[in-house]
Amino acid sequence: MNQRFQNKVIVITGGANGIGKAAATKFKEEGAHVIIWDYNEAQCQQTAAELNIDFNVVDIRNAVDVQYCTDHVLKKFSTIDVLINNAGITRDASLQKMSHQQWQDVIDVNLTGVFNCTKAISSVMIGNKSGKIISTSSIVALYGNFGQTNYVASKSGVIGMTKVWARELGKYNINVNAVAPGFIETDMLNTIPEHLLKQVMEKVPLKRIGKPDDIANAYLFLASEEAGFINGITLSVDGGMVS
Ligand code: NAI
Repeated sequence: MNQRFQNKVIVITGGANGIGKAAATKFKEEGAHVIIWDYNEAQCQQTAAELNIDFNVVDIRNAVDVQYCTDHVLKKFSTIDVLINNAGITRDASLQKMSHQQWQDVIDVNLTGVFNCTKAISSVMIGNKSGKIISTSSIVALYGNFGQTNYVASKSGVIGMTKVWARELGKYNINVNAVAPGFIETDMLNTIPEHLLKQVMEKVPLKRIGKPDDIANAYLFLASEEAGFINGITLSVDGGMVS
């Protein structure tokens, strides 16, 4: 087994489930110390026990808790090499039916949560003059999607913040990139009716829905030394649906 991440310290938000869990599995297999940050305590404990990795139960919306967990990771591991801003939620409704609460819920996790984690952990990376930050956008940020004003706004914001941080943090040898997944088989897709998923699949040139491992592999590549000169991009991993 290739050990690209031997002894690297890697924080994955939303790591208890879905794509984040697939990424935690792969980073661990490649020698990393993985810490998952997730607000689902039961799922966090289960995944951490299953993979034999560390975890913090944390709501990334809360900047104080995020700073506390950053300090906690530093106490145990002395450094943080990679941040994967993977946690995200949907609260879909068409514009006229979308409540302000639905709008705010998605913005708080998908945008403010990414800001909180990146602000706290990039300060460690600036001190180290080294680091990799990967944030999860979505292909819907590239083409818009019915019923997802809040989600598309947040995921477009992730692409924008990635470009800003690539410029601001590059001089500290920190690479900042985003991944834009297509439709991926996780609990998040449970809200989409079966017949709509079939229509989606027809639009994918590779004629399949993606697997969590497809996105995890992109995270690993962007976090690796092989991606050392890639900075500020959004990598679509969508079976060719948009790209
Ligand atoms: P998921 O719902 O399976 O997992 C998301 C994880 O984030 C859960 O474990 C959840 O507890 C955690 N989380 C949610 N809010 C949190 C908070 N405030 N603080 C801490 N943890 C929190 O989702 P999935 O599908 O694995 O998605 C991962 C990322 O990929 C998300 O950012 C999502 O928007 C993005 N994405 C997913 C696609 C898909 O088709 N599944 C498509 C495009 C993007």
